[in-house]
Amino acid sequence: MKTLKPKEIESIRKASELLLKSKNAVVLTGAGISTESGIPDFRGESGIWEKYKPEIYGSIQSFLRDPSKFWKMAEDIAPTLFSAEPNPGHYAIASLEKMNIIKAIITQNIDELHQKAGSIIVYEVHGNINRFSCLGCRASYNKEQVLRKVKKEKSPACNYCGAPLKPSVVLFGEQLPNFEKYMAIDLAKKSDVMLIAGSSLTVAPICDLPLYSLREGGKLIIINDEPTDLDERAEIVINHKTGIILPLIVEEIEKIKAEQESITYD
Ligand code: APR
Repeated sequence: MKTLKPKEIESIRKASELLLKSKNAVVLTGAGISTESGIPDFRGESGIWEKYKPEIYGSIQSFLRDPSKFWKMAEDIAPTLFSAEPNPGHYAIASLEKMNIIKAIITQNIDELHQKAGSIIVYEVHGNINRFSCLGCRASYNKEQVLRKVKKEKSPACNYCGAPLKPSVVLFGEQLPNFEKYMAIDLAKKSDVMLIAGSSLTVAPICDLPLYSLREGGKLIIINDEPTDLDERAEIVINHKTGIILPLIVEEIEKIKAEQESITYD
């Protein structure tokens, strides 16, 4: 495991103090927080878009032209996606919510691992892979029904109207779910600290959320194992694994709180 440099230890302390002092901290996560659960991200070194071109496998236009391409990619990724368990990074974020240090989690991820780790207030701005609906009559199907269909049909079709079924995830060229999008913008505007974990911050409109926080005087904490375009505007940047750093931030916050309590009792 990559050892921590003195600067990273200092940044963990600073991030912990910032979060402890915050009144309206929110978290924004991306695919990078789930790689330690075995789910590949999109643009990291072995990202999904390296193997599957997004314009062919990940856009609504290509899905409507030929859904079988999307389902071919889905079949390859589904076993990992559906068997994944939360990692220490997800549990650390759930702890920060239980400690009432963060008010909500805005996630670009569709894997439901935040909820599995115990997080409650989660806004899934790119949808959720466990829900499916018919593009024709909007009938809804669950994961088990679709997994059974995929075994027999190259592109699962609706039992009622025969139109293609699609998972409730946002493909390129599709609008984000309105409520989640506007809720995320409102949370970003009101946030005095935004903790960003495991996102390349390259896909609009979610990559602009940190700008809403900055515009209102908010401070950014970015934990990502690669640089992002917003690093120079962040208060703190830690280029390390979220599954290592986030639990250390929780530990540091608990240490600071214990120190504060011991001072008040003396
Ligand atoms: N710890 C920290 N950072 C990590 C880790 C890790 N364990 N694993 C990967 N990363 C970093 C990668 O280096 C990369 O910079 O996380 C980032 C993930 O970026 P993307 O793969 O672009 O994922 P994301 O930002 O969530 O993409 C946004 O793009 O394709 C669409 O809809 C898809 O929701 C996705 C959106």
